Amino acid sequence: MVVVELLLEITDLAVEVNEKEILSDIDLYIGEGETHVLLGPNGSGKSTLFMSILGFPKYKITRGEIIFKGEDITNLSTTERVRMGVGVSFQNPPAIRGVRLNDLLKIEHHETDEELSPEMMKMVTKLKFDEKFLERDVNLGFSGGEVKRSEILQLLAQEPDFIMFDEPDSGVDIENVELLAEEINILLDKDKKPGLREKSGLLITHLGYILNFVNAEIAHVLMDGQIACSGSPNEILEHVRKEGFKGCVECCNPIH
Ligand SMILES: Nc1ncnc2c1ncn2[C@@H]1O[C@H](COP(=O)(O)OP(=O)(O)O)[C@@H](O)[C@H]1O
Ligand SMILES: [Mg+2]
Repeated sequence: MVVVELLLEITDLAVEVNEKEILSDIDLYIGEGETHVLLGPNGSGKSTLFMSILGFPKYKITRGEIIFKGEDITNLSTTERVRMGVGVSFQNPPAIRGVRLNDLLKIEHHETDEELSPEMMKMVTKLKFDEKFLERDVNLGFSGGEVKRSEILQLLAQEPDFIMFDEPDSGVDIENVELLAEEINILLDKDKKPGLREKSGLLITHLGYILNFVNAEIAHVLMDGQIACSGSPNEILEHVRKEGFKGCVECCNPIH
């Protein structure tokens, strides 16, 4: 039997935003090398869970705990969590006026030379950017697709151990979803056999489109701030497509 080490352990989590409880009773256990999917209708709390795991101060944890790599990170800052190996791709990251993408990538990849390393330039080209694009301020005037590709490029530079993607497929055309999925698969060690993968992920998707290209072990459906169902991604998706989220949850036998 293969024993999977737990990388992220969330127990009995409740989260408030502006004094309103948005999430409650969240239990989520992600093993080393696993990819989990978080599905759910708009407003169900997917991004709130993402921000809570990342540790944004506005998302107040009122109950429960988050353990990462065996350490309680419930009260750690976002900076400390990122240093421990948490990486994210935001759904709508802000523009950073005055910071060139090139300079951000150098910081993220720990480079000090004026020019980006050949290793990074290879990834830049693969994601359909060029040197001229790298001179632009981060996300300033980027198209929807460019924002998503830039988020993935930055993750490739950081090489985090646990990566959360908040709707990487929303607002992106088919061709670019396939390209993003290819890179997400690299980030999550999908080129290695399941037992040998070291990277884990939480993939948030509203419609599940990206799952045509990225394999995941378990899917969870979030409804009204609670995990209402967990199970095989394909089965859950099929159900959601036929019956909607409500129908799916009504017939669900949660696995935990
Ligand atoms: N910063 C915030 N201030 C107030 N309410 C918020 C904030 N962020 C999220 N919410 C509320 O929390 C609920 C869940 O939102 P969200 O996590 O963005 O859902 P999802 O990502 O599943 O669409 C919604 O009712 C939303 O209005
Ligand atoms: Mg969201």
